[in-house]
This record gives sequence, C-alpha cells and structure tokens, in this order.
Amino acid sequence: MKTIDSVLKLLEKNTNHLSGQQIADQLELSRTAIWKAIRSLESVGYKIESKPHKGYLLLDPPMLSETFIRRNLTTKVPLHFELHDSITSTNTRAKELGALPSTSEPQIIVSDRQTKGYGRYGRAFMSPQQTGIYLSILLQNQQEYFDAGLLTTATATALCRAIEKKLDAKPSIKWVNDVLWHDKKISGILTEGITDMETGHLKQIVVGIGIDYLTDPQTYAPEIRQRAGSLRQVVQKKGLSRNAFIGAFLNEFFKLYPNFNSYDFIADYRKYCSTLDQQVTITRGNETITGIACDITDSGELILDNGQVFSSGEITKIRKTTT
Ligand code: BTN
Repeated sequence: MKTIDSVLKLLEKNTNHLSGQQIADQLELSRTAIWKAIRSLESVGYKIESKPHKGYLLLDPPMLSETFIRRNLTTKVPLHFELHDSITSTNTRAKELGALPSTSEPQIIVSDRQTKGYGRYGRAFMSPQQTGIYLSILLQNQQEYFDAGLLTTATATALCRAIEKKLDAKPSIKWVNDVLWHDKKISGILTEGITDMETGHLKQIVVGIGIDYLTDPQTYAPEIRQRAGSLRQVVQKKGLSRNAFIGAFLNEFFKLYPNFNSYDFIADYRKYCSTLDQQVTITRGNETITGIACDITDSGELILDNGQVFSSGEITKIRKTTT
C-alpha cells in the first residue's frame, strides 16, 4: 500500500490525535515520510488538525467518507457502502449490483456527482459535484406484496425527520414525495423495483434520494429558480457535513423501514404535508384533475374535495386557498 493510503487508513481508525512519531512507529516509516504524506492528503482536500504535543487528527472532510458516515450511524442494521467520485447514476449502479450475486444486507451507493442522474418520468436530475447528496439504497424484498409508493412516502418522512433533528429546519412535503424547504424543492426520491423475470417476483428495491444540500441556488437556471431550492443556508449555519447528514438520514430510514407498511409514520407524513387545503392540479397519465386537497388517507393517498382518491400522480400546480 502506498504511504499516503496507509497514513490515511491509520488516521481514519483513530478518533484521538496521533503524534508523527506514533504514526511513523506503527507504519515503520520515517517521520519525514509521514509529514509528506500528511501534506499530500491536505493538498487533495483532507482536513487534518495538527496540535503541538498531541499530533494529528483527521477531521470530517468535505468529500464523501465511509469512515465519517459510519461514525454517525446508530442503526444496528448492517450496511455495505460503495462510494464513488463520479458515476452515471447511483440508481443505475444499485440495479447493476442487484443483478450480481452478493450480500443480502442493504447496500448504500453514494456518489459525489452523477453524470446521468434521473428522476421520475425519466427526467434528468442535475447532480453537480460535492454540493449535493446522491444516494441509493438497495434492499432485498422479503414480502409477497411490496408497496413501492408507500416506501417512497416513508423515505420522504425519514428525510424530513433527519432535516428537522439535525438542521433545526422545518421541511415540508409536496404530495406525494417532493421534500421542500421554504416552499422550494430540495429533494427528490425515486423508488424502482427489480423483478425476477422467471417468477415475476419483485426481488429487490432501489430507493434513490437526491438532496440539494449545499448547492448554491444562484447556479440554477433562471427558469427553475422559482421552484428549486437548497438546504445550503441552514447547512452552512449548522456546519453539518454531508457525511454526518447521510449518517443521520440512514438512521431515520432504517428506523422506519422495518415497519413502513404498518402505516405508523403517516401521522408524521400528514404533519409535514403542505399540500392539504390547497387547490391542486394533478397529472396522472394523460389525465389532469383539479380540486382542493382535503385529506391524506392512512395509507398515504390524497383525497380531493370531489371525492377522488389518488395513490400516485404529480401535482403540477398549487394555488393557495384563502380561508
Ligand atoms: C424526482 O424528483 O423525480 C426524483 C429524483 C431522484 C434523484 C435521485 S439522485 C440519486 C438517485 N440516482 C438517480 O439517478 N436518481 C436518484
């Protein structure tokens, strides 16, 4: 292993400072070699605190780090991570992994950037480097009937809980699963299934989450600035790294996941849902329906004042009603 990699590995293992001499002794290298390796790590973006008489401590870096994500995990669910600097799409990668014989434990794929990120209805999902969180969770399906829509709803709720707890911000949900902050979309969720072609059984599920975490809204194209937001302002105020937030989100997700089909989380979903009491236009296939959103059923469906019930669809227009 190269000196730089072994110094990084050693620093990652330690949550206390390590002196140059301790590192040199453990790796059987000279102190000069260690010093050079530390400088090289800093030059590629690692943050290393250096204290006289104490030594070096690796700090949570701006880039993705499995070590630092894991330090924030409290869930007991064993998770496998795959981190990328750049990838076409974490959902595409999760589907590739799903086709390989591998672990039955959940796999988490995260990338610093996506070159072909996509959302619902095949839309492109902008995924600029180091400012967003692009993450997919590959899950094995054990159930006879799996409600993918409900899992998406549960994921939006888990994300809102993480935002509220870790960033002290008040997110909301635009039915069915767009997470908003100050009425602008800051996250999209896309759940996909992998079916066994022979049995027709839903083998695996991929939940893809894209979050505009640190993205500067000034960089958005003028035509989307009206509706696209970012958590940047609260994230900068709190100084919470992407690694810490990913850990927090996964904790909330895996708290919800084992029982998501018991609908227990719907009370929270309703609390976050900002769509109620608004006049909405819903597009479902070729249909467009307008009405007042008056309730969310215990299974996450939207009820309009004309009695129509929607389990899927997209709200294309919202007009606030004055009461
Ligand atoms: C939507 O709002 O339509 C859903 C967007 C989902 C984007 C995420 S980013 C991580 C994962 N990889 C993808 O290509 N898409 C999902």
